[in-house]
Amino acid sequence: MLDGGPMIFALFGNPVGHSLSPLMHQTAYREMKINALYVPFCVRILEEAVRGIRGMGIRGVSVTLPFKSEVLRHLDEVEESAGRIGAVNTIVNDGGRLCGYNTDWSGFVRDLKEFMPIQGKTFGVLGAGGAARAVLFGILAEGGKPVVLNRTVRKGEILAEEIGCSFLPLSEAGALDADCIINTTSVGLAPQVENSPLEGGIPEKASRVVDIVYNPLETKLLRDARKAGCETRSGLGMFVHQGAEQIRLWTGEEPPVESMKRTVREMLKQNEEN
Ligand code: ATR
Repeated sequence: MLDGGPMIFALFGNPVGHSLSPLMHQTAYREMKINALYVPFCVRILEEAVRGIRGMGIRGVSVTLPFKSEVLRHLDEVEESAGRIGAVNTIVNDGGRLCGYNTDWSGFVRDLKEFMPIQGKTFGVLGAGGAARAVLFGILAEGGKPVVLNRTVRKGEILAEEIGCSFLPLSEAGALDADCIINTTSVGLAPQVENSPLEGGIPEKASRVVDIVYNPLETKLLRDARKAGCETRSGLGMFVHQGAEQIRLWTGEEPPVESMKRTVREMLKQNEEN
């Protein structure tokens, strides 16, 4: 922290230019009347950036692509869920001791619970990367039943075996019997807005579809799902909830989730119009 000045928070990623995290966090601190600065850094050498957290007394850091896995080995401690997922998106600096957390899974769960019950429901999870691991961890923690679907069969099978759930090749998604489908791949993310991970259409039995992509707010997948009569949910809520959870960890105070969401939604809409 600056001597008598604002609390300093940072975003570590590469690239970070288009991130909406600074806008979202600054909106929250302003409303919470916390004197804080949230600064994005396009990190070149992660190890040295992490040293700078201690060196400069930065209170908390959001970690984004491509550093969420790499950062684990530079921390003093990793909270259990983050260790099991194998990814850290949040660092808390307690007097020079750096602890890593994963608020992607907890943010995802908070948002999904606003959308539907999780306990006992079946979820088709598209993708087998880091985002899929966080989503799967969240579903299992809440008593849901996941099925992994992935384009590269072996990668998906390995992940499904590790967590003890079933697997379907993405090309066979039509046969999926699930209450809800969740896209964790980046397919459909701007500027590739005309792509969908389910080119063959929405599996008939699914009545709900979630996309963790939030830019655009309605991806091709969600548009197809809406047209097929499904209830849909964008990644906006997950994004806001993972950030809100970071603020709770850093400040111990409750962030204004609704105005954070409103601000991010408005900026996304503005960007879409231009
Ligand atoms: P992240 O850590 O953000 O989840 P990742 O580890 O690169 O990113 O994982 C991306 C996931 O999206 C993978 O499961 C990938 O499928 P493959 O294992 O077959 O590569 C999936 N993915 C990316 N592009 C895809 C596409 N065009 N169609 C289907 N799946 C895709």
